[in-house]
Amino acid sequence: MPQGRPRILVPGKINKRVLDRLPDHFEPVFVAAVDPALITPELATGVSGIAVQGKVSADFMDAFRNLEIIANFGVGYDGVDAAHAGRKGITVTNTPDVLTEEVADTTIGLLLNTVRQLPQAENWLRAGRWVREGAFALSPLTLRGRTVGLYGMGRIGLAIAKRVESFGVAIHYHTRTPREGLAYTYHPTLKGMAEAVDTIIVIVPGTESTAKTINAEILVALGANGVLINVGRGSTVDEAALTDALKRGVIAGAGLDVFENEPHVGEDLMALENVSLLPHVGSASQATRDAMADLVVDNLVAWFTTGKALTPVPETPFTRKAG
Ligand code: DGY
Repeated sequence: MPQGRPRILVPGKINKRVLDRLPDHFEPVFVAAVDPALITPELATGVSGIAVQGKVSADFMDAFRNLEIIANFGVGYDGVDAAHAGRKGITVTNTPDVLTEEVADTTIGLLLNTVRQLPQAENWLRAGRWVREGAFALSPLTLRGRTVGLYGMGRIGLAIAKRVESFGVAIHYHTRTPREGLAYTYHPTLKGMAEAVDTIIVIVPGTESTAKTINAEILVALGANGVLINVGRGSTVDEAALTDALKRGVIAGAGLDVFENEPHVGEDLMALENVSLLPHVGSASQATRDAMADLVVDNLVAWFTTGKALTPVPETPFTRKAG
């Protein structure tokens, strides 16, 4: 067992506030990347925790003998193999709640940018075209009269739905099981919801069961007036099928904050006029990222002082073993 202050490994880059706060409680140690080949014998036995903003694979976890906890920066923890951690008795934490309202705000911005082409309109003004050429073209799409379907109705989904309600549009949702007490129209299948709505907002986590579930068939069901917004994970959308659907007018437009292969975005997708693209900024305000950083560190502190993490993920409901 390692002695003294717990050693927390930071592989690769992480939010600066995490780096600033770790030395108050721990001995931080660093490697350049999540690569088991970088783990020296001293780190293999000396590290008790990992703070990470990115991926932690099973083989990386296996490189440590006394690893107790992995604190993930982000509510989505698809980059961390939590099932493997669960089997090994390693606790994984994420950062729920503190980013809910921020991500919901961003989603509304992206939705409006997509249907009303507001970024394009601003570019028109900035390029001097308003003066030279006159008014920006009318947006072919509007939010008026739309029916919005949420794919996912967790904490962030609910916060988005609450905001969408205020636009006076109908709200539907699809999840595996209906959420009690919700007045929105429930669909047991994604296809059924896609057929019933003209706008889908994706806010499911990136898991094996959601991977590429927004595919060509769903886009056809969404239809020619359809708008797809994705603020969940890029892995949920078949990006090639989406690009093709946008090119051929199978759907009308898309707003994306997340992508299959971040930070790389397909050139075909970038060339399209009917998309609004953001570089994964759903939670990216200073205040919210500070709160996420605090929760990463506070989870580690709680684990090593009280034996219980503040926000463990469901796969790892562990308490710390004494000693
Ligand atoms: C999350 O927390 O999962 C958001 O996507 C920001 O990284």
